[in-house]
Amino acid sequence: MKNKDSREMLNTKFMEISSMSFSDIKLLKKNPYCDIYQAKSSDELVIVKQYALQHQNLLIDEAKSIKLYHETINDRWLDCRVLESFPQYGILIMSFVPGISLSQFIYRSDKTQKEQMLENIFSLGKLLRLLYSSTETVGSIDNFFYEYIEYCQQKLGEVHGIRKYLVQRYKIKKVPSIKTSTISFSHGDFVPANIHISDSSVGLIDFANSNHRGHIINDLINFTIAINNMFISKKWKKHILNAIHEGVGELAISPQVKNIFYAFHYYRWLMLNINSKSPFALVNVWQNAQRFSWI
Ligand SMILES: Nc1ncnc2c1ncn2[C@@H]1O[C@H](COP(=O)(O)OP(=O)(O)O)[C@@H](O)[C@H]1O
Ligand SMILES: [Mg+2]
Repeated sequence: MKNKDSREMLNTKFMEISSMSFSDIKLLKKNPYCDIYQAKSSDELVIVKQYALQHQNLLIDEAKSIKLYHETINDRWLDCRVLESFPQYGILIMSFVPGISLSQFIYRSDKTQKEQMLENIFSLGKLLRLLYSSTETVGSIDNFFYEYIEYCQQKLGEVHGIRKYLVQRYKIKKVPSIKTSTISFSHGDFVPANIHISDSSVGLIDFANSNHRGHIINDLINFTIAINNMFISKKWKKHILNAIHEGVGELAISPQVKNIFYAFHYYRWLMLNINSKSPFALVNVWQNAQRFSWI
């Protein structure tokens, strides 16, 4: 066994615990919370996430959201379902969502595929709408969003030198909280890397940041920022964003709710870029002071 393979096999505890049998195990990625494997089980591909035990709660949330997704969508979209879940061992096994990511699709597609892609993105908008209409309710937005805004603002207050000067180009102000409003499920990381496309179907993966007391607007803003950050023409960005909005359809969202999620992304974007080691990120901060003009 090659060195790399033995390292990859090291943590595959799920093989002992699960009742499924696995072959062709491949480590796809490690992130701060879990190791992500792809494997074959009864001739089907599966994904296994092995969470660090202290992040057991993330696993429980992710499993709950995959279940919601599976029960909400129909065969127009690519399905994902929980196959087995062992929170006590940090193991979550889910079905494999075929296709390539929307980011790969966007960068790879030639002119002839663009029409198809806009149809896919329209369908993605419809999917988002469906998730919204089936979870929309009245309640209070999860405190997590307010706490994260405060955390970012605190981090932004701690920067020095040129960074401090850059931050001064932005408005840092208290975001008023609201007692009750319309809330809904939100995926929480609704970016092209977590959207899969296979032929004419789209589907979602990576529910680790989902929230049942969020709002659809959270996902739409996330998607907009991610598309705007891509290295594609302005015209093409506009087509993509128009297609998703068309798919979602009319939305009546109170300005106060919008403000919270815009602020969440605004401060998050600013904090991540200002603390980045890449000089490109700092230039980005310098150049984009006007971009979030809706705050
Ligand atoms: N259900 C799935 N079906 C197919 N591929 C998946 C699935 N879940 C994860 N992956 C693959 O693993 C990668 C990382 O998983 P992801 O859940 O997106 O974690 P991260 O939070 O680190 O982005 C994805 O980009 C994708 O390539
Ligand atoms: Mg991901």
